[in-house]
Amino acid sequence: MKQPLILAIDTSCDETAAAVSRGRKILSNVIASQINIHKKYGGVVPHLAKRAHQEKIDYVVREALMRARRQGRTLKGMPGSQPSRARRQAKGPTLTDSLDAIAVTVGPGLAPALEVGIATARKLAAYLHLPLIAVNHMEGHLLSPLALPNTPGVKKSPTPGVSIKFPLLALLVSGGHTQLVLVHAIGRYQLLGETLDDAAGEALDKLAKMLKLGYPGGPIIEELARKASPLAIAKIPLPVPMQHSKDLNFSFSGLKTAALYIIQNKKGQTLSLNFTHNLAASFQKAVADSLTGKLELAIKKTQPKGILLGGGVISNLYIRRQLRRVARGHNLPVYLPFSKKLFTDNAAMIAVAAYFKFLKKDFVKNPKKLDRQPSLNFKY
Ligand code: KG4
Ligand code: ZN
Repeated sequence: MKQPLILAIDTSCDETAAAVSRGRKILSNVIASQINIHKKYGGVVPHLAKRAHQEKIDYVVREALMRARRQGRTLKGMPGSQPSRARRQAKGPTLTDSLDAIAVTVGPGLAPALEVGIATARKLAAYLHLPLIAVNHMEGHLLSPLALPNTPGVKKSPTPGVSIKFPLLALLVSGGHTQLVLVHAIGRYQLLGETLDDAAGEALDKLAKMLKLGYPGGPIIEELARKASPLAIAKIPLPVPMQHSKDLNFSFSGLKTAALYIIQNKKGQTLSLNFTHNLAASFQKAVADSLTGKLELAIKKTQPKGILLGGGVISNLYIRRQLRRVARGHNLPVYLPFSKKLFTDNAAMIAVAAYFKFLKKDFVKNPKKLDRQPSLNFKY
């Protein structure tokens, strides 16, 4: 059976993203970042995000279709596999002709930002007479490790039910969310715990803002932490959030406040580079210890067959290494996205989530009424 060709759109926060997939294979993954717009504010400004999405969305969608078409030249059965002049003369099929569905993120995310992607997807689906698939952004992060690169002969491709056994335990760590989810099957998710206040990425972003270092904070903190002294933790000890709680929730706002007090105590003094490096390392370690502690607890409670990791903070090498160590201790395989571009926000992961919905014919019944769901969460 021919795998469906899906165009997916994500405008949930500050990246305008579109991707084309054939089944779980990613043919294109285009992302227009708004970092330059928001960095002077130290965080995302919703109405500026909306305007930037509106300005970029058509270009990003066109670019995703074009790149996928170029990829198609090397793929049998794709419209692009014919020589281009001959195809033009014969008025052969274009990629938009052969799409099988349009997918879009409906939440969670910033309401004004989500609206832009939904309006575009709805218009495209109506114009091309295609089914519309509504995707939960966090399900996208959760399934991002199942995306496949567009290269033949991928070894050990993670295939649900074949090379991947259920239940799986997913840890999703992004700028808006920190969640532990038990995956009984694709589409059957049980939220085990989540942050009670700030998300892990948000806490890293806020630390960078307090230190006037820029946005997004996560990559900056990771870079600084690399330069810290081996004694950083002893020099600037920070509390590990929720270390003694028996549930699977997280909390990062206390950690942020502890760091703020340490910075405020230095009032009047210029912060030395050594101090900044050590604070970054100690903060990063506290975040990692909190995540590993809860992962450990969740593994003991649920006995999963493997671990899925997704979300922007998982791009952090130190945090990833600590999480892998926990999984190794329980002899569990860890599934991660194949490319760095799939950790932070992107539409390729939305295309993968949409693929599984396509197989179940889980289409939007009334596209005209499709609305954004800024606080969408996993239901079980
Ligand atoms: O998944 P994502 O792109 O967006 C949301 O859905 O929120 O995650 C963005 C978050 C930001 O807080 C950013 O600082 C963090 O991921 N992040 C990182 C790294 N790269 C991005 N955090 C730690 N280390 C990194 N290398
Ligand atoms: Zn995200």
